[in-house]
Amino acid sequence: MNWDADLYLQFAKERTRPSSDLISRINLLQPQRIIDLGCGPGNSTAMLRQKWLQADITGLDNSPEMIAAASKSYPSEKWVLSNIASWSAEIPFDLVFSNATLQWLPNHGKLFAHLFSQVALGGALAIQVPAHYQSPLRQVVDEVSKDPLWSDRMDRARNALTFERPRFYYDVLQPLAKYLEIWETEYYHVMDSPKAIVNWFRGTGLRPFLGSLESEQQKEKFEQMLLEGYTKAYPQQNDGRILFPFRRLFIIAYR
Ligand SMILES: C[S@@+](CC[C@H](N)C(=O)[O-])C[C@H]1O[C@@H](n2cnc3c(N)ncnc32)[C@H](O)[C@@H]1O
Repeated sequence: MNWDADLYLQFAKERTRPSSDLISRINLLQPQRIIDLGCGPGNSTAMLRQKWLQADITGLDNSPEMIAAASKSYPSEKWVLSNIASWSAEIPFDLVFSNATLQWLPNHGKLFAHLFSQVALGGALAIQVPAHYQSPLRQVVDEVSKDPLWSDRMDRARNALTFERPRFYYDVLQPLAKYLEIWETEYYHVMDSPKAIVNWFRGTGLRPFLGSLESEQQKEKFEQMLLEGYTKAYPQQNDGRILFPFRRLFIIAYR
């Protein structure tokens, strides 16, 4: 499944805000070695660079399209094409950072403990993932995916993303960390129409669902049904626009 960096960056401001909020809460003075896991087109890495001008920063992603976009936009940074699932640091990092990525990987208990073990003493693991436990965004796509037209092909797509509750991460990281901070923020993005929400989703979590469908006709029908669901779920404001709530979970574990 290929990532489309341009489509992803259509909502760059909204997608970059959580990484900037997460960075502002990281209480490390001068981290020397920083890694951005799932750096995408480099937008989160650029925020890290803004805060820590002198640090040695690496962006890592397993999408060649994303790494190409990142190195084109920020040629002076270090970019690595690699999979987080099999990643280990040769030398521990002062900051292991990941924004809007780890939901794409399974087994968060093992994964988060492993990532924390890649942090140097005195450093931190800082993570942001979407918190879609009950969002209309997920509920509607789950409902549409259960339509008899394609339900038998959708198991993988329905399970492609991992969402655990804060209490789960607390139990994994609390025994390991010197200090642990967990919080959630609900952003209210202003969107022009329900169609804009489909476009937003097309750049990320919708991809496994569309990827399970064979024909363009089926993909169009799937998106049409999604649009109908979002039109009901997200009512118009007085100015005709739509408030799109998006809840995100933040974790910082200090070593
Ligand atoms: C939603 S983007 C996040 C980009 C950026 N960090 C940001 O804050 O906007 C998710 C990124 O995770 C990458 N990704 C997903 N699974 C991965 C894996 N197993 N290993 C490395 N990168 C992965 C994707 O290629 C994509 O670029």
